[in-house]
Amino acid sequence: MLVLGVESSCDETGVALYDTAQGLLAHALHSQIAMHNAYGGVVPELASRDHIRRVLPLTRQVLAESGRTLRDLDGIAYTQGPGLAGALLVGAGMARALAYVLGIPAVGVHHLEGHMLSPLISDTPPAFPFVALLVSGGHTQLMLVSGVGRYTLLGETLDDAAGEAFDKTAQLLGLGYPGGPALSRLAEGGDAGRFPLPRPMLGSGDFDFSFSGLKTAVLTLVRKQGLAHAADIAAAFQAAAVEVLVSKSLAACRHSGATRLVVAGGVGANAHLRTILTREAAARRIEVFYPRLEFCTDNGAMIAYAGAQRLAHARPDLSFAVRPRWELASLEAV
Ligand code: KG4
Ligand code: ZN
Repeated sequence: MLVLGVESSCDETGVALYDTAQGLLAHALHSQIAMHNAYGGVVPELASRDHIRRVLPLTRQVLAESGRTLRDLDGIAYTQGPGLAGALLVGAGMARALAYVLGIPAVGVHHLEGHMLSPLISDTPPAFPFVALLVSGGHTQLMLVSGVGRYTLLGETLDDAAGEAFDKTAQLLGLGYPGGPALSRLAEGGDAGRFPLPRPMLGSGDFDFSFSGLKTAVLTLVRKQGLAHAADIAAAFQAAAVEVLVSKSLAACRHSGATRLVVAGGVGANAHLRTILTREAAARRIEVFYPRLEFCTDNGAMIAYAGAQRLAHARPDLSFAVRPRWELASLEAV
């Protein structure tokens, strides 16, 4: 089954072709980061307009690269949400229209399910069940995953997402948007022990997170120290955030008896997180699976993959179920 995947939920247009027998055939991405950088964040209207410009050329590109045509497609997956409404509508409109004219099914994919299953786009994917640490710009969750669509929430952030905390801290340190990668680079040359920062909720005994206090602690530090020690502050923030993420992820594995941990979302690209998590997990005989670096942040491949799982298992509706009890008021208007 050949599935086209379209991601347009935020500031990246991603398109990919995934074949359930052959794996990922091609993927292409256009990042709007440079365009939004001047405004210090994503401007939704500009994002939508740029998705319109990019989505068809990127689709032609992945088809050409894999030697396929629209007629070869068996289904189309698109990000249905969560995300920016106008941006989502571009992908949804394109995918639905294309599926309609080709006479094939279209499926709306949950953006976070795409992230969470992205480590499965691999020659050596993790088997179910596993614990997933989902760390993106908008979400931070620990999830027990026992199959596609079988998700139990173990814990989540009570305020800022991990990526959001990286971005806000980076902004305080004068590093553009999105600041996560820049902060991580700056931290490499810093001394994490110079300014000890709190580890919020480290001992809370649950799997929830809180990052807004950490950001405030950085703000206080910057006011006191100025930016002369920016690298040390960046390293201190990164060490604190990573320690909490690692500790809670391993506790969630212990709690659920899982021996496999999957990391997904933009912050999963963080080198310090990868180093500490891999080391600490190995000491507890837990195997960690990361997506390919390019699939940590938003991309079309994860949407094509998640959509393919759903389309491949969708049974044609051959039922002739009758409804002995049926509320007249429950009918949808035509
Ligand atoms: O998953 P993603 O592309 O978008 C959402 O669905 O939110 O994640 C983007 C987030 C941003 O907050 C960005 O700063 C962060 O991931 N990020 C990083 C790194 N690369 C991306 N944070 C820390 N270190 C990185 N290397
Ligand atoms: Zn994302």
